[in-house]
Amino acid sequence: MAVNLLNSFSFELPTRVEYGVGVAGTLLDTLRRMGAKKILVVTDKGIGRSGLLVSISMQLEQGGLVWEIFDETAPNPRDYNVRDGAKRANLLGADCLVAVGGGSPLDCAKAIAAVAPRGGAVRDYAGKDKISGDVIPLIAIPTTAGTGSEVTFGAVITDTREKYKFTIKHPRLAPRVALVDPKMTVTMPPALTASTGMDALTHAIEGYTARVSEPLADAAALYAIELIAKYLKKAVFEGQNLEARAGMLLGSILAGIAFSHSDVGAAHCIAEALGGQYDLAHGVCNAVVLPAVMEFNLPECKEKYARIATAMSIVYEKLDDGARLAVEAVQKLAADVNLPAFSSLGVHAADFEALAKKSALNGSNPNNPRRMGAGDYLKLLKKLRTAG
Ligand SMILES: [Fe+2]
Repeated sequence: MAVNLLNSFSFELPTRVEYGVGVAGTLLDTLRRMGAKKILVVTDKGIGRSGLLVSISMQLEQGGLVWEIFDETAPNPRDYNVRDGAKRANLLGADCLVAVGGGSPLDCAKAIAAVAPRGGAVRDYAGKDKISGDVIPLIAIPTTAGTGSEVTFGAVITDTREKYKFTIKHPRLAPRVALVDPKMTVTMPPALTASTGMDALTHAIEGYTARVSEPLADAAALYAIELIAKYLKKAVFEGQNLEARAGMLLGSILAGIAFSHSDVGAAHCIAEALGGQYDLAHGVCNAVVLPAVMEFNLPECKEKYARIATAMSIVYEKLDDGARLAVEAVQKLAADVNLPAFSSLGVHAADFEALAKKSALNGSNPNNPRRMGAGDYLKLLKKLRTAG
């Protein structure tokens, strides 16, 4: 699957990225520049307990702004979290949202920003480009290095009735500003650092190899892979290492830029089916299935996998060897940072067929580099069970 330089593409990055150690301390200046007066902070209870909201709250208080905290976002944000958050935003008359947290609060805030001004249920906006008109401006402050949600156009929400994850996607959903501060990620525990980091790696690899990949996104993906391969272990085992945290945060943003201009692939299709059914951590699901998906996709991705191997500092002579070594390196990296095996996730074999069908129906499935039907997904799930 060589890159065709004559293919057309478009590229936009609606988010202004402010990056730097301590940049979260400039929130008040950013709000003033935007003319914001009434702020809803969208976060979760874990962030509240971590102490990361202290400096945010102090700035809002100091600015004499009207503000409230909505901390009811669940991991794998639910449709009713969006409904409740939109209600709070409207009651406050919020003219700006500030999302602080990992992918869950950030995605929930994006959905609130879209639903609050126009009403209805978030499911009404499922899919691509279903949002017209304004959304509430959003400032994103990520506290994990994984989803890249601070720069992406999409939000993944769980339909709690059907136990199904769906995406709403539109460039208008991209945060207006991302305050990207490595210091905000140093308190992340090792397991969360590992799972969110593997999510970022999955974004980069799937974004790079998706059927709709494009050169500017490819460039971002390859640098993301380089940074993540270099810094993930260090960030997991030396949490206070600011350089490693910075490397991972930049890697996750670059991966976010890559996949939001391209797409994800089969690993995310399975991860979202598993996450919707069992409420499992998204990054763990990705890490567990990514090597098997890469193995399946290998015949269609030899050149690109060899480039991935190079980005991971792997030396090889033949292209075929490089491609295979990339798959092995990803598997080893997941094991090195102690991500669990598939068997430990508690996935019931009786659910495999339904999970395979959901995976095949995922909007990103057509962009997986190798065609995959429900039967292929079923085989892959069975293989994962046998492998442990
Ligand atoms: Fe993801």
